[in-house]
Amino acid sequence: MTVARPAARTAKTAPFEVRRIREDFPILNQKVFGKPLVYLDNAATSQKPRAVIDAIVGFYEHDNANIHRGLHALSERATAAYESARGRLRRFVNAAQDREIVFVRGTTEAINLVAQTYGRAHVGAGDEVLITALEHHSNIVPWQILCGEKGARLRVVPIDDRGDLVLDELERLLTPKTRIVSVAHVSNALGTINPVRRIVEAAHARGIPVLVDGAQAAPHLPIDVRDLDCDFYTLSGHKMFGPTGIGILYGKEHHLEGMPPYQGGGDMIASVTFEKTEYNRLPYKFEAGTPHIAGVIGLGAAVDYLSGLDAGGRMAHEEDLLAYATDKVGGLPRVRLVGTAREKTSVLSFVMDGVHPHDIGTILDREGVAIRAGHHCAQPLMERLGVDATARASLALYNTREDIDALAAGLRRVLEVFR
Ligand SMILES: Cc1ncc(COP(=O)(O)O)c(C=O)c1O
Repeated sequence: MTVARPAARTAKTAPFEVRRIREDFPILNQKVFGKPLVYLDNAATSQKPRAVIDAIVGFYEHDNANIHRGLHALSERATAAYESARGRLRRFVNAAQDREIVFVRGTTEAINLVAQTYGRAHVGAGDEVLITALEHHSNIVPWQILCGEKGARLRVVPIDDRGDLVLDELERLLTPKTRIVSVAHVSNALGTINPVRRIVEAAHARGIPVLVDGAQAAPHLPIDVRDLDCDFYTLSGHKMFGPTGIGILYGKEHHLEGMPPYQGGGDMIASVTFEKTEYNRLPYKFEAGTPHIAGVIGLGAAVDYLSGLDAGGRMAHEEDLLAYATDKVGGLPRVRLVGTAREKTSVLSFVMDGVHPHDIGTILDREGVAIRAGHHCAQPLMERLGVDATARASLALYNTREDIDALAAGLRRVLEVFR
């Protein structure tokens, strides 16, 4: 089980030192129920480094103003900071141009945007939308709504028992009726890294565009939308050490140009009369209303933070942690790991014989260990794997082997309680 390790794009500075990194995250330095906090719920949301917190506070303390319309100094500063963050996001995903980066509330909004604009225009009665069995509800429901509206059919690439996509089936399910493929880069419930490059190739060979849901990939893997050649890529700031309520939709320019706006309002227009509205150029056509300016600035700071770390060292650290956790937790009595894909990253899902995952989560909480228990917004996946729920420990770059030891000790306590 390994983390796929594409070469990092940027030359990097200091070696990766997790002890020093932890000092950047003030929230980690606290006790819960008298025990040092061990935060292992990073797939739900990650913690924020001081640099991100400071960027947001700094914006509100010094530059707060609305953007793109003010003629005064503060508005110019706010606009410059907002647009410079767009440039950083462009470099982070290696898009060709800033206008291919649309700020949205997060992955959920990005997928809904594509389903309701591109999807409405291109998917009709009898057409098919292809997703996979391991998608988050955010990458199921928007397509289901679209298919319901249009009389189209949602088709699903199956997974095997380890949590790997069955690629032969993918080939079979790409039919002349398929209008779009939408697939997670990394599964939030299992950690599976999907072979998105291959999926894009297979779809493009048939002229079908691909959306990649990168919510769980962005904090762990280098992202290169031009290398993937995907048509759309989505991510959420809060999962990659940035603020909540902000994320991006990357779209190839020709797709975005051809799509109608998602919402109408201020800033997305070039001119308005009661008879007719001319829409603004990209990306503003898709950014109606006052955006989450502080969130964008915080997300820009998160990208700077991530890009400033040694990518190779960071990924090696995360790979080591996952292997260590897999051995430690997988070796406990009555524990069964759920999701053992060949390529996976940073997620350890498991069930324990005779103990409901919610009870595991509650007992661990008392030990200061925060994990998630439930269906992880992936109910169809749980059904496929024959479980109602799992306990999920999900890792971030600031976790340590000691965190995993605390998790394992907490699980031994669970075993005692439910003897
Ligand atoms: C794979 C995946 N896709 C989409 C989402 C939705 O992200 P958000 O709630 O930030 O819109 C999540 C969140 O858990 C996720 O893990």
